[in-house]
Amino acid sequence: MLQSANVREKTEECLSPNPQDGGVIRPPPLTSPDSQEEASTMVASSTHSSRLKYMSLGVLVLQTTSLVLTMRYSRTLKEDGPRYLASSAVVSAEVLKILTCTLLVLSENNFSLRAMNQLLKEEIVNKPVETMKLAVPAGIYTLQNNLLYVALSNLDAATYQVTYQLKILTTALFSVSMLGRKLGIYQWLSLLFLMAGVTLVQWPTESEGDTEQKVLSAGSQFVGVMAVLMACVSSGFAGVYFEKILKETKQSVWVRNIQLGLFGFVFGILGMVIYDGQRVRDLGMFQGYNTITCTVVVLQALGGLVIAVVIKYADNILKGFATSLSIIVSTLISYFLLQDFNPTG
Ligand code: C5P
Repeated sequence: MLQSANVREKTEECLSPNPQDGGVIRPPPLTSPDSQEEASTMVASSTHSSRLKYMSLGVLVLQTTSLVLTMRYSRTLKEDGPRYLASSAVVSAEVLKILTCTLLVLSENNFSLRAMNQLLKEEIVNKPVETMKLAVPAGIYTLQNNLLYVALSNLDAATYQVTYQLKILTTALFSVSMLGRKLGIYQWLSLLFLMAGVTLVQWPTESEGDTEQKVLSAGSQFVGVMAVLMACVSSGFAGVYFEKILKETKQSVWVRNIQLGLFGFVFGILGMVIYDGQRVRDLGMFQGYNTITCTVVVLQALGGLVIAVVIKYADNILKGFATSLSIIVSTLISYFLLQDFNPTG
């Protein structure tokens, strides 16, 4: 019993990605040749972690692509009656995320309600300082989630996706300054190429419609780009802050997500009351909801869960590059299916 506790402890120690080391999970050093069993347990866990890392990165690519396209489609769909409130969708996604994480914590505790309640009380109520730390990323993510709706109401899916990749740069800068991570010359170079790509995408073209249309679309394009730029800074900071909390403590990622979600829910409700209070009073919080809206909410909640796993088992920079892959997929779908993207030279 003592030995297995030891093994678990050592395994966790070895498998915890080291921020100083670029967050890389390395196999444990085999210092005692006589503990073969111990070593093979560690290697099995390491393989498991590595599998989780790549699986979660793959799911993230799919989730990001589907979220962007569905969100864009839902914000541009012309329908009778009111359009759904983005602030309400943000709150619904938080609720769904909290419920799912609670179920996951329940399953981690062998479906014992008592054990789960005790754990949540211990970790959330009895450690107010630890819990309060999550208010920072929660507040920033709520702002960011609202900004992204503004962006996607004003930009096409492909332009939005490419511009939002600037978050890789902000994430790298925050990882270097807050986690002490070191980046190689190729990594910095690829960040520069990314920025050049973003600039080219934003380059004004001459072939747009009549002048009035041009002024209108330039205005909304500006709003959209500003919203994405703010979201890039918020994404980089909140992601790295959350990574720091996850990797510096041993608490379950689902408990952390519940803490994050609780604050996200409170901030989300505040945002909804401030921006859409009158509309909610007139037609209710769920006005304009349809199947597409529910799909957006589910995809956004799923994103929160996958991102937490990715940050835990990989890191924010890898996460950024994984989501960039979804640009290619979004661009193709935006061009061929939605037909709202006309690539220029
Ligand atoms: O674009 P970016 O990767 O910064 O988006 C992060 C998204 O994931 C935000 O919508 C945020 O609310 C969500 N998230 C979450 N739970 C986490 C981490 C992020 O819901 N633990």
